[in-house]
Amino acid sequence: MSILAKHKILETNATLLLVFAFLVVTIGGIVQIAPLFYLENTIEDVEGMRPYSPLELAGREIYVREGCYVCHSQMIRPMRDEVERYGHYSLAAESKYDRPFQWGSKRTGPDLARVGGRYSDEWHVDHLIDPQSVVPESVMPKYGFLRDRKIEPGYIGELMSTHAILGVPYTEEMIAEADADFRAQIDPFGDTDGLLARYPKAQVRNFDREPGVSEMDALIAYLQMLGTLVDFSTFEAVASR
Ligand code: HEC
Repeated sequence: MSILAKHKILETNATLLLVFAFLVVTIGGIVQIAPLFYLENTIEDVEGMRPYSPLELAGREIYVREGCYVCHSQMIRPMRDEVERYGHYSLAAESKYDRPFQWGSKRTGPDLARVGGRYSDEWHVDHLIDPQSVVPESVMPKYGFLRDRKIEPGYIGELMSTHAILGVPYTEEMIAEADADFRAQIDPFGDTDGLLARYPKAQVRNFDREPGVSEMDALIAYLQMLGTLVDFSTFEAVASR
């Protein structure tokens, strides 16, 4: 009996088709679901990932508040066109300290998962004040007011405690030093040893070149950090080991 003829038996017998379809779906389901019970964690640890510094965290809050995620995703999918345009595809670990995550589903503008270091701070300042001044066809709104809004870091420690409750590993020391670390990151002449020990690779400078810490400083500190924590020249995915 040819394979087609065998298949005809299935296709002409509704009950038999139902039984076999059920079997196939069951096997597929077990293959997908069972391993999850044996994995301790579906997010592999990746070297370099750390909780956000107080200034970066403040910037992230502004990013969320202003709804940047409405036009920008932060997840590079493992597809060739995306990887060639934006860089290495996003790892689960890269958003493990994001509460809530900023993957997004809309790309009116480009993905921002690896925007850190792609442009200078000056570019970001110009772009946020008037996007059309650097990209004439841009439809991005203006965010110049962020430079006029100064931040007092008093609330940052509490914000970090909240994130700690949600599972971000902020230590008591990090929370106690929140104010000092916040100010240290914006002061190129200050003492940054503590900051850099707690938050390796934190970028220290006055991001908007204006005195004081503005919301724009915090937002640019956050943008310049995105995608820079994991060193992809040494990163190896588990599957390829
Ligand atoms: C209405 C949609 C919209 C919103 C809201 C929006 N953007 Fe954009 N953004 C765009 C578009 C379109 C571009 C591409 C053109 C350009 O560079 O301006 C862009 C570009 C960018 C770029 C440059 C990315 C690159 O790789 O060239 C950055 C950085 C950026 N946006 C940050 C932000 C931040 C931060 C916010 C929130 C404060 C924000 N955007 C809100 C639409 C938006």
